[in-house]
Amino acid sequence: SKPIIKKSVKVLAEIPNLNTIPSNYDYYSNTTNKIPLEEHYYQGSEQEDSVPIIDFSLLTSNDPDQRSKVIQELSRACQDWGFFMLINHGIQEKAMKAAIGACNGFFNMEEEDKLEYEGSHPLHGIRYGTSFNVAKDNVFFWRDFLKLMVHPHFHCPTKPLELSEVLLDYSRRNREVAMELLEGVSESLGLEKNEMQKELELESGYQLFVANYYPPCPEPERAIGMPPHSDHGLLTFLIDNGIGGLEIQHNGKWLPINTTIPNAILVNVGDQLEVFSNGKYKSVLHRAVLNNKVTRLSLGFANGPSLEATLSPATKLIQTTNCVPAYIAIKYKDYLELQQTNQLKEKSCLESL
Ligand code: SIN
Ligand code: FE2
Repeated sequence: SKPIIKKSVKVLAEIPNLNTIPSNYDYYSNTTNKIPLEEHYYQGSEQEDSVPIIDFSLLTSNDPDQRSKVIQELSRACQDWGFFMLINHGIQEKAMKAAIGACNGFFNMEEEDKLEYEGSHPLHGIRYGTSFNVAKDNVFFWRDFLKLMVHPHFHCPTKPLELSEVLLDYSRRNREVAMELLEGVSESLGLEKNEMQKELELESGYQLFVANYYPPCPEPERAIGMPPHSDHGLLTFLIDNGIGGLEIQHNGKWLPINTTIPNAILVNVGDQLEVFSNGKYKSVLHRAVLNNKVTRLSLGFANGPSLEATLSPATKLIQTTNCVPAYIAIKYKDYLELQQTNQLKEKSCLESL
């Protein structure tokens, strides 16, 4: 069944002289969340360290000392932050810029051309939409999106023309980096490097590409682009068009992320890595805030297990540490459906298990 299509926020934002948001976008009066006060944010000097930086090229280094050092850093980053900046990953800036440009081209098409790609089921290969889940959201988010399943099968709109070529290339490169990084993460948990690959059937791993489009919002402090949530999957990769907006939670406070490191990919721990690590690594809350001047575009990949894989803490981890699995086993496919067909609310999906 076709979903009730809501107007895209792009169309809304383009209404001449729009200076207030429609009341169903008034996030803070429609939820129990309070407008964030300054005290909820890190203040200048208070925050001593910043998001860790991981040098990907050291993971592929032939020097075993370099490799074990970066694996240690990975472990610390996943435990202390759940977020890190990945540098020297080998994906060229040109490929990233091309992906951003092509996605921009998609959102700039006529609304009726985009609506051909509306999809309602989380497992549809292509889904264009707005907010998160218009059938369930009681307050709408100031965000349009395009979600594509790009692995094990590649799905992409045929318009605009260059989109599929650009995204096929970009997805493949991201996947190569993700696979290598996940081997490092497996080792960082004290497991063999191919252990995660085997248990979660990563060869046929599900990879979801998401493009998020946040046009200028006339009242950016009353609405939200994406509410606080954690991601499904193992590791999310994110880049944007250089316009800030992402905030992450760190030790109970919000920290705006500036993506000023050239060519870096922001990586975060997803719910399924929290489960696989039996809670050693935690998926971290993050949100997207708005501005009233420029459009922000972000591109993410959720790199996940196979849809058919059953998710539970790593067998060897449970055996060697002699602890009890802290999560109930569920198929990734079922988790995804649960997460995508409900409201996006903090870690409610993981906590419902
Ligand atoms: C997301 O959390 O999925 C999107 C975050 C962003 O746009 O920065
Ligand atoms: Fe996210």
